Order: sequence, then structure tokens, then C-alpha cells
Amino acid sequence: MLFFCSIFLAVSVSALPADTMYGTSGLRANLKARQAQVIPVVVGGPQDTFNPNAVTAAVGDIIQFQFSNGNHTATQSTLEAPCTPLGGGINSGHIPFQDGQTTVGTFNMVVSTTDPIFMFCSTGPHCQEGQVMIVNPSNTQQLLDFVKAAQGTDKSVEGTAIAGGTTSQIELTNAAFVPAPAEAAGPDGGGAPPAAAPPVTNATEPAAENATGAKNGTAKEDGGKTETKEKRLPVLLAF
Ligand SMILES: *[C@@H]1O[C@H](CO)[C@@H](O)[C@H](O)[C@H]1NC(C)=O
Ligand SMILES: *[C@@H]1O[C@H](CO)[C@@H](O)[C@H](O)[C@H]1NC(C)=O
Ligand SMILES: *[C@@H]1O[C@H](CO)[C@@H](O)[C@H](O)[C@H]1NC(C)=O
Ligand SMILES: *[C@@H]1O[C@H](CO)[C@@H](O)[C@H](O)[C@H]1NC(C)=O
Repeated sequence: MLFFCSIFLAVSVSALPADTMYGTSGLRANLKARQAQVIPVVVGGPQDTFNPNAVTAAVGDIIQFQFSNGNHTATQSTLEAPCTPLGGGINSGHIPFQDGQTTVGTFNMVVSTTDPIFMFCSTGPHCQEGQVMIVNPSNTQQLLDFVKAAQGTDKSVEGTAIAGGTTSQIELTNAAFVPAPAEAAGPDGGGAPPAAAPPVTNATEPAAENATGAKNGTAKEDGGKTETKEKRLPVLLAF
């Protein structure tokens, strides 16, 4: 049987003209034969992005979305409606990464087409901030168009069920990213503490006391955070 197959293969290969073997169809045959690749894409982190935001993949390859700091999704949309889930499309659901995690949540998506696959993050305003990507973009201009279209939307629509892939976990040490430093990725998203400083009436008075002791009060820190949140809301509403 093996012997027969070998003969059959030999005959088939030698029957192919040279230009077929080295031309386009020959390359396609090679792509089919090659092992599927796992292509990492980092979602979130210090900034709300997909990195990289353009990926070329063959049918059968696996896009492994690795979720860094924040709470993001990889959700399929269209060029026409960049921040709205495509009906029946791919959706990872929300996958958070919090300080101190030693594992990373992943969403493995098997590529089933070489046509462009448009993806966005459905969390809050992330899509409007440009957190989108394309698998197999037609060209560079298409990515620019997609980002611009996303930025031009008012809000995002959440996906529903997880679809088009499987969620899993990998060790942080095997991930394609280093998480943001704990302080920068605080629950408030950073930037809040400076706003709490102005209420001090005169900086000279606390300095006269023992600053080391004053800084150690946990109650004081909590009060500052609460105050900051209350103050930020009206500002957001004003916009
Ligand atoms: C992530 O976001 C989803 C949707 O807003 C929410 O239900 C979930 O609790 C969030 N998870 C974390 C850890 O913040
Ligand atoms: C703070 O105290 C210093 C020293 O007493 C004084 O020169 C300064 O004017 C005070 N500033 C305010 C804002 O009260
Ligand atoms: C503040 O208190 C600490 C601990 O009691 C002490 O080591 C330090 O010398 C004090 N500093 C000042 C400026 O009083
Ligand atoms: C601050 O308080 C913590 C917990 O009570 C203590 O371990 C630490 O030594 C204190 N630090 C200073 C500078 O007083």
C-alpha cells in the first residue's frame, strides 16, 4: 500500500509543469501544507489598543488575543459599522487583566477566510479611541479608514454571547507583553491623585508637622479617592 502511494505521488509531482510548482498555485499548495501558526495580538495594556492592529493570516492560522491591563473585548464588526457587533460574528466577551495576575486570559480565533476581518473592543469608549484592528486588511488605507470610521461613532454596542473562538489562559511569562506598572493601572485609570492635592489650604502647615507620619494614614487616602470620584463626575457630565 505504502509502495503504491509513493509511486502515485511521484507520478503526480513529476506530471506538474515547472511553472505550476513555483508559481502562485504552487505557493498556495505550500501554504496549505504548512503548519498553522499562532499569531499573538495584545489587547489593552498601558493604552487601549490592539497590538499589532493589522495581521496577515492564512486560513487555519490562530489569532491568539492576549488580554493585558484593563477589561477589553475582541469583537467582530464591519467597516460600515465599526463599533457595532456583526450579527453572528466573532466575540471574546470581556476579559480583564488586573494587577498581580500571573496568568493572562486569551481568546483563540481560528482564521476561516482571507477576506478582511474587522475587530473592535466594545468596552466603554475604547472603539471611539481607535481600539480596532483588521485581520487580512486589503491594504494600509483600509486600516486608516477603519480607525477613522470608529473614531467617528458616538458609542459602542456590546456583543452578546462568546462566539467564533475559545477562551483560555496562558502564563504571564509566556505572554507577548509586560503588564503596565501597578500604579499606572489603578482602578481609576491613573491621573486621579493630582486632583486631590489642591484642597490643602496652605502647604506650609503640614510640612511643619512630621510628614512621614501624616502620609501613613489609610483613612486619609481613602477619603481622597472618594472625593476625587465625586468631583470628576460633574466634569464628565458637563462635556
Ligand atoms: C468587565 O466588564 C464587564 C462589562 O462591563 C463587566 O461585567 C465585568 O464585571 C468587568 N470585569 C472586571 C473585572 O472589571
Ligand atoms: C502659606 O503660608 C506661608 C507662610 O506662612 C505664607 O507666606 C503664604 O502666603 C501662605 N499661603 C496661603 C495660600 O495661605
Ligand atoms: C518623623 O518621624 C519619624 C518616625 O517617628 C522619625 O524617624 C523622623 O525623624 C521624624 N521626622 C521629623 C522631621 O520629625
Ligand atoms: C505605616 O503603617 C504601616 C502599617 O501600620 C507600618 O507597617 C509602616 O511601618 C508605617 N510606615 C511609617 C513610615 O510609619
